[in-house]
Amino acid sequence: MRDSPEARHAPATARNRDAILAVLRETLPERGTVLEIAAGTGEHAVFFAAAFPQLTWQPSDPNDDARSSIAAHAAIAGLNNVRPPLALDAAAPEWPITAADAILCINMIHIAPWSAAEGLMAGAGRLKPEVLFLYGPFRENGAHTAPSNEAFDGWLKAQDPSYGVRDLEEVSALAARHGFTLDRKVAMPANNLSLVFRGGPSDRRNP
Ligand SMILES: C[S@@+](CC[C@H](N)C(=O)[O-])C[C@H]1O[C@@H](n2cnc3c(N)ncnc32)[C@H](O)[C@@H]1O
Repeated sequence: MRDSPEARHAPATARNRDAILAVLRETLPERGTVLEIAAGTGEHAVFFAAAFPQLTWQPSDPNDDARSSIAAHAAIAGLNNVRPPLALDAAAPEWPITAADAILCINMIHIAPWSAAEGLMAGAGRLKPEVLFLYGPFRENGAHTAPSNEAFDGWLKAQDPSYGVRDLEEVSALAARHGFTLDRKVAMPANNLSLVFRGGPSDRRNP
């Protein structure tokens, strides 16, 4: 496969992509646009876009290097259903996109301030996708679910005290304030969870 210097690699994406894909196959709408928030290297974007050729994949990330990597992976993959990456900070009050049928956010809300989670939910509330999919480690019932997640939480907070493994209940309550209900919680490898939130009928789809 051709490669380019901009195309970065995150080894975790190769480890978790098949398990995530299995959940997405049961979750994503048949057609429409998937907005991926915090797409990082772009490896997930091209892998999932190849698996769902009938969907339009819209990757995004606020980081310039990440967007270069996403564009490089998209060019290498040569897929016609991946759009150029958007500069999108979830915490921003306005996003450079106004509609999506699904929103994906993998491994972001623990490695960003809580304001990013708040912005993510507020933005999802504005775009009103059918599905909001989150993936990552979560605390449940006020406790870590595994020693490895507790250690990771300590590492995150050492990087930045505003980071940290989030409480599932707090995330669900935040989602509910923006019109999303937790529909499915799927245990994933390495003590992660897939969370599938669903919104009510959207004004856009049901004018
Ligand atoms: C751990 S990486 C995960 C990347 C990718 N989703 C994956 O699973 O490999 C976290 C990503 O979150 C992005 N990020 C951090 N703060 C963000 C924010 N406020 N809005 C959107 N993305 C953000 C970073 O630029 C980075 O690409």
